[in-house]
Amino acid sequence: MQKCGVPQLFTKPQTRIVGGKMAPFGRWPWQVSVRRTSFFGFSSTHRCGGAILNENWIATAGHCVDDLLTSQIRIRVGEYDFSNIQEDLPYAERSVAKKIVHPKYNFFTYEYDLALVQLDKAVDFAPHIRPICLPATDDLLIGENATVTGWGRLSEGGTLPSVLQEVQVPIVSNDRCKFMFLKAGRQEIIPEIFLCAGHEGGGQDSCQGDSGGPLQVKGRDGRFFLAGIISWGIGCAEANLPGVCTRISKFVPWILKYVT
Ligand code: ARG
Repeated sequence: MQKCGVPQLFTKPQTRIVGGKMAPFGRWPWQVSVRRTSFFGFSSTHRCGGAILNENWIATAGHCVDDLLTSQIRIRVGEYDFSNIQEDLPYAERSVAKKIVHPKYNFFTYEYDLALVQLDKAVDFAPHIRPICLPATDDLLIGENATVTGWGRLSEGGTLPSVLQEVQVPIVSNDRCKFMFLKAGRQEIIPEIFLCAGHEGGGQDSCQGDSGGPLQVKGRDGRFFLAGIISWGIGCAEANLPGVCTRISKFVPWILKYVT
């Protein structure tokens, strides 16, 4: 069994999401692109992020796959730069055997915005294709620096990058999150199944196209775990409007019912 949450650090000289930077190749080997196939299945386009849990299962947001038939979903693992068709370590794609959207997923409030996707065929782990760990505790992670990654827009209404982006955001308590939204003139209900991350002044955030992707935290053992799945926000990176994730520590037993 592959150890989870261990990045591959390539020495290649490489050093937005909003306010972030290009991720180094291999830093987030569990990041996947959840894709929608074209009508005849000849091609697919990026729709959401996701995270590899093991060789057969991907976690993503409920809203990323709820409206798609399993036959319309494709999962691309080991991707880095969409515009480079000859990367040293190539991506792989899989069709989907099964999608399990959380039964309490709420289209209107984005509560329980979580889905599991079973691949039709196991992926082969490689330096750039590895699983992330699940949270080992129900620690609220307040004040932790988390990293969000994805191929989402570089600014609100802005362009899509071809290279995977990363940005660090501090996790805030749910009370503080509610208060921040209020300061921005928004009355939001932030139940404990949500996890908010962002600076008061904004500037760093996930954005459209990052949904479903991981908000990862480095554990005390040095391994990364899936603290959140990027779910929603109001605009992107605006002051007092933090990004909101599904809090994965609340769903570990549910996930482990299917992912073994
Ligand atoms: N829900 C959006 C998506 O489908 C993006 C969520 C993140 N937005 C944010 N401002 N943090 O990609």
